[in-house]
Amino acid sequence: MSHNTIGHLFRVTTWGESHGPAIGCVVDGVPPRLALTEADIQPFLDRRRPGQSKFVTQRQEADQVRILSGVFDGLTTGTPIALHIENTDQRSKDYSEIAERYRPGHADITYDLKYGIRDYRGGGRSSARETAMRVAAGAVARRVLGPDVRIRAALVQVGEDQVDRAAWDWSAVDENAFFCPDRAAAARWEQRLLELRKSGNSVGAVIEVVAEGLPPGLGAPIYGKLDAEIAAALMSINAVKGVEIGDGFAAAALTGEGNADEMRMNPDGTVAFQSNHAGGILGGISTGQPVVARFAVKPTSSILTPRASVDRQGREVEVQTKGRHDPCVGIRAVPVGEAMLAIVLADQLLRHRAQNPDAPSVARLPRN
Ligand SMILES: Cc1cc2nc3c(=O)[nH]c(=O)nc-3n(C[C@H](O)[C@H](O)[C@H](O)COP(=O)(O)O)c2cc1C
Repeated sequence: MSHNTIGHLFRVTTWGESHGPAIGCVVDGVPPRLALTEADIQPFLDRRRPGQSKFVTQRQEADQVRILSGVFDGLTTGTPIALHIENTDQRSKDYSEIAERYRPGHADITYDLKYGIRDYRGGGRSSARETAMRVAAGAVARRVLGPDVRIRAALVQVGEDQVDRAAWDWSAVDENAFFCPDRAAAARWEQRLLELRKSGNSVGAVIEVVAEGLPPGLGAPIYGKLDAEIAAALMSINAVKGVEIGDGFAAAALTGEGNADEMRMNPDGTVAFQSNHAGGILGGISTGQPVVARFAVKPTSSILTPRASVDRQGREVEVQTKGRHDPCVGIRAVPVGEAMLAIVLADQLLRHRAQNPDAPSVARLPRN
């Protein structure tokens, strides 16, 4: 059984565990002659990297990416691109406690029930360490999408506290430790997370991901719909418990009148959508409007207060996380969400071009 690969024509396979010597991925299907160096990938990894603020885990990883294959003279060759990151902060602590006990909210129990063996050091393969490779592959996907496609994400909710959409400023996102587009919300979250960190507790979050500059036509009905693949890709991120496209669950509270994305013509002959409740996707196909998705991340499971659990022998025990603690894993999920959207879009773009090479790159009607 092989389920470590995502994509059809742009294909990413990741490998590695939290405390193995290294993690890596193979990105296959990348078109030749695209400019690509390690410096194009590293900034995205630096945004996901742990230990950058007091609000995320203090594990110190350099996360230095190396391109092992598929690039020659700064250009992709069309052959598999292997990317590699060494694990440098695998603390050689004693893991015997969690080797036998299952941490509530973690994959310890399900890996053991399914496989009967697991690498318990730092969660092994189930650790979000693997998401570093998604981010690296996402940087390659952005190259495939080209400079006209812009993919950005922001943290829009921490616990019950949401951003004020009227105060949304993309330039604020890289100014605070939370990737928050609303400066006042970022200040409130700072207070909240400091308190949570002190008390050893944690909180969930919602992330919004937006892709702009996409051509219409991406998406492969019926079982490769763009919204379905985005949902699956975002849901595959650790700790994600919900995904919405466009208005998502809020659409259920609208009427048909309120939800209609009405259409008019632009002077240049392209279609002008008057709103975007659909999140840029109709019938599983991109409209050319921004693609908008949101995903909910549960509170960090490893908290400092003891929680009831069981061990491998069926004894009732308590589990308590000691040491490094992350009060909101939603923060570090922001660059991971961008990467997953980029990977799905790059794959869908190549599939769209393969089936329909003459399709227009803007929302122009066939008989106009
Ligand atoms: C970027 C990122 C970092 C994470 N770091 C932690 C962490 O430090 N502690 C923790 O308890 N969970 C962390 N998680 C979540 C766990 O990996 C996840 O909850 C666990 O593997 C069980 O999988 P599930 O929640 O998807 O069912 C992180 C998730 C992401 C996306």
